[in-house]
Amino acid sequence: MHTDRIRNTSLLDRVKEVSEVLDLFQDGMVIASSGFTKAGDSKVILPALAANNTSRPIKITLITGASLGHETDAKLTEAGVLARRMPFQVDKVLRKAINRGDVLFVDQNLSETSEMLLDHHLPEIDIAIIEAAYITAEGGIVPTTSVGNSPIFANKAKKVIIEINTAVRTNVHGLHDIYLPEAYPNRKAIEIFRPNDRIGSAVINVEPEKIAAIVLSHQQDSPADIAVIDDKTAAIAHHLIDFFTEEVKNGRLSKSLRPLQAGIGKVANAVLTGLAESDFEGLTMFSEVLQDSAFDLIDAGKLTFASAASITVSAACYQRVFDNLEKYKDKVVLRPQSISNAPEVIRRLGIIGINTAIEFDIYGNVNSSHIAGTQMMNGIGGSGDFARNAHISIFVTQAASKENKISHVLPMVTHVDHNEHNVDVVVTDVGYADLRGLAPRERALKIIGNCVHPDYKEELQSYFDRAVAEIGGQTPHLLDEAFLWHKRFRENGSMKAR
Ligand code: COA
Repeated sequence: MHTDRIRNTSLLDRVKEVSEVLDLFQDGMVIASSGFTKAGDSKVILPALAANNTSRPIKITLITGASLGHETDAKLTEAGVLARRMPFQVDKVLRKAINRGDVLFVDQNLSETSEMLLDHHLPEIDIAIIEAAYITAEGGIVPTTSVGNSPIFANKAKKVIIEINTAVRTNVHGLHDIYLPEAYPNRKAIEIFRPNDRIGSAVINVEPEKIAAIVLSHQQDSPADIAVIDDKTAAIAHHLIDFFTEEVKNGRLSKSLRPLQAGIGKVANAVLTGLAESDFEGLTMFSEVLQDSAFDLIDAGKLTFASAASITVSAACYQRVFDNLEKYKDKVVLRPQSISNAPEVIRRLGIIGINTAIEFDIYGNVNSSHIAGTQMMNGIGGSGDFARNAHISIFVTQAASKENKISHVLPMVTHVDHNEHNVDVVVTDVGYADLRGLAPRERALKIIGNCVHPDYKEELQSYFDRAVAEIGGQTPHLLDEAFLWHKRFRENGSMKAR
């Protein structure tokens, strides 16, 4: 029974029904679960915790790699299971509960959770739930479609429950490169010099006595939302490719660019899709999520290697990749997020980081996480890991949205995730502004000149001119007026002056 999936026969007697393990979970526990941008998440235990919460209500802290699929965060929220959640989420129901103050959300740089667990800056994990394709004869856990934080969870948790997902084929073995940096003061260099370097093992090692139970599931990951490329996202991609072309012309980049990181969302996907039709070739990725566009680029012969923490793709792309895994296996590696997002490696490889902003201001400060300065959207995710350490840090967003009632280029951002010192280039559907080497007053003129929607350009220029004339300084601002556009939006439903 299950011997192809549990090859270490001494573990066969740990197989249990989901209902038999629920009693292990107690009120106040810290639970960690695999799952990174919907990939490789807990398919049966976390949903069962939600479903069971009426008969025996508990509240937990839930730590994951990043977001979960199958509306699991929504189910856990609606059942009242979540007291505290970290480090990232994208769920509408959970987002509302966070913004009501019902769930405490710790919004973390995705490279940092592992570091904090390693050095005991976070409470100890009581139970880790880890999705696996199978357990090897030596007892190693073969992860599925993501690695995320699973290695540190398996290492640090008091107990581990393994969810063996039989919908994932066993040939995923070899797709992963598992490496955990040493705790301080014995930290060694992470010896990755190219995106395709492998430095670890193919499996997650766990002390067998910690494995409290093994449960079986048979369910694919939730598919990624299909990102439709519209006129705006196509225009953003076009401007970004113009920027790369100029860099090549000026001898600062070659046709293979530098290893690319692309954040989540429709814009990042459109940019990579745009590269498929460009002259660039021999591209590589050192990113955290591989979306459909990465596999399209591989198939187009443009992308030679892609490193990430997860594969999060549409249902059709999932079939294409996992039905033909042998074709992709020497071109893709999945790593722990403490490695895919390691500042040391990002800096060494000279990554080009492309992330999405909710809004940016005239000096290039970026808000990636909050609507109108107070309401959490998703979280900072990995954007901070990459923005701070990238060779070229790029942020993209539409110039205006909602029938142009919202401008995404503003006098001052309402929340700062990435400050002006970590932002090199900003791009909207109107154009791009290369801010490298520019002082704040020059940055403002470039951004207003190149990136703002026409409906807002005159007023933004007037704001800057008056700030220079009336207040002056290194970074001129009119503090009484800096958030006026958001005030107008709140009061009149539009940022425009009437
Ligand atoms: N007031 C009200 N709504 C606003 C607003 C404002 N001031 N500013 C933006 N919005 C709305 C937009 O109109 C849009 O609304 P819609 O969904 O109803 O169309 C929404 O906020 C933003 O969505 P969209 O532009 O479709 O974003 P996206 O899917 O491209 O995602 C981020 C953009 C920034 C939310 C997303 O990239 C993210 O979460 N980033 C942080 C994490 C990250 O970068 N990780 C990197 C690697 S994983």
